[in-house]
Parts: sequence; structure tokens; C-alpha cells
Amino acid sequence: IFRNKMEFFAAAKISSSFPAPDLPEIAFAGRSNVGKSSLLNALTRQWGVVRTSDKPGLTQTINFFNLGTKLCLVDLPGYGFAYAKEEVKDAWEELVKEYVSTRVGLKRVCLLIDTKWGMKPRDHELINLMERSQTKYQIVLTKTDTVFPMDVARRAMKIEESLKANKSTVEPVIMVSSKSGAGIRSLRTVLSKIARF
Ligand code: GTP
Ligand code: MG
Repeated sequence: IFRNKMEFFAAAKISSSFPAPDLPEIAFAGRSNVGKSSLLNALTRQWGVVRTSDKPGLTQTINFFNLGTKLCLVDLPGYGFAYAKEEVKDAWEELVKEYVSTRVGLKRVCLLIDTKWGMKPRDHELINLMERSQTKYQIVLTKTDTVFPMDVARRAMKIEESLKANKSTVEPVIMVSSKSGAGIRSLRTVLSKIARF
């Protein structure tokens, strides 16, 4: 499925401009700068379709990318971006919350966590919201190339344990690096099962 050509389809600043949910969707959420846009590029091996930046807060709209006619990948604006104006920050956050809790056709949210920084209150907030709205999610640890390999597994276990505290079954955390390519194939395998064939 990830071999299909990725094409920009729509951008939305408000929920009324979300495109019709014609395809199954997989969305990528997480704090600003965790590597959401980079992961879309790595998964599809199509660099340059989704813009990335070392300055946090680059993605400011919900961006929909079609993968052929099979699947839609959705790049969400990051939360917790410290320098944005309060009003703008609140607007992004509300938009993301509305999207993840109400979107028809949303099959999975990949919640990205930076391996180095771990889970933050905003991440827990989003998890709680997804639990309440019964949105399926998958935790993805990103930028695993930035810490020692032994630390990666240890941090993943810590996150799984903290999730088990309020939930009986927890999907295993997937560890990836868009830079080295580690874990990208496993994530593709997991996500491919979600698409309509
Ligand atoms: P916002 O759009 O601001 O929410 O950010 P984002 O989550 O889309 O992050 P983006 O993909 O733009 O990446 C942010 C920065 O992290 C860029 O400088 C990337 O090059 C870098 N980055 C992304 N993935 C990796 C990775 O796997 N390893 C390393 N070392 N850096 C990465
Ligand atoms: Mg982005």
C-alpha cells in the first residue's frame, strides 16, 4: 500500500473544511517537532511531498494526503509548541481534538512520542480523549537514533507499563527512526492491515 503515489489532497484549518471521508484514514499526532511529517515521508519513501522543518510548529493545518485510491494519511499540527500565540495554540489543539474524536473513517491514530523526551501531560490528555471516544491508537517512539539502543527498549517498556495502569490490553509500542530507517518496515506492516484492499 505504501508504494502508491502520495498526493496532497486537502488542508483544513476548521472542521467544516475537512474533505468527505471517502477513504480509510490513518492520522499522525504528537507534540510539535516529534517527526510526524518526516515519518509520512519515510513510510512512503516519497520525500518532498510532506514538508518538514527543524523549527517546531511548521504544520499548521490538518493535511490530507491520498495514497492512490486506497488510503489517506493525515498529518496533524503538533501540540505543545511553546512559541505560538495562545489563541493559535488553542485553535490547533481544539482542531486536533475534534478531528481525533469525531472523524468518520479514521481507522488509527499513530501517537508519536520522541524517544528522548518521553510522554508529556499533553500526550496523556490526547490518550484519554481517544479512550473516551473509542478511537484506536498506536504509540510510535520516534527518533530512536538519538539515544543509545539499550535505552530505546527500556523507554518503550516504561511507556507500555504506564499505559497498562489504566487499560488491560495495550498494543506494543513501535520504535522508529525516519533518519536511519529502523522500524519503518514494521510500522508499514502494522498499518497496511488497516487499508481497504
Ligand atoms: P510540526 O509540524 O512542527 O508539528 O513537526 P513534525 O512533528 O511534523 O516534525 P518534522 O517531521 O517536521 O521533524 C522535525 C525535526 O526533527 C526535523 O528537523 C527533522 O529532520 C527531525 N527528525 C525527524 N525524524 C527524525 C529522526 O528519526 N531522527 C532524527 N535524528 N531527527 C529526525
Ligand atoms: Mg509537521
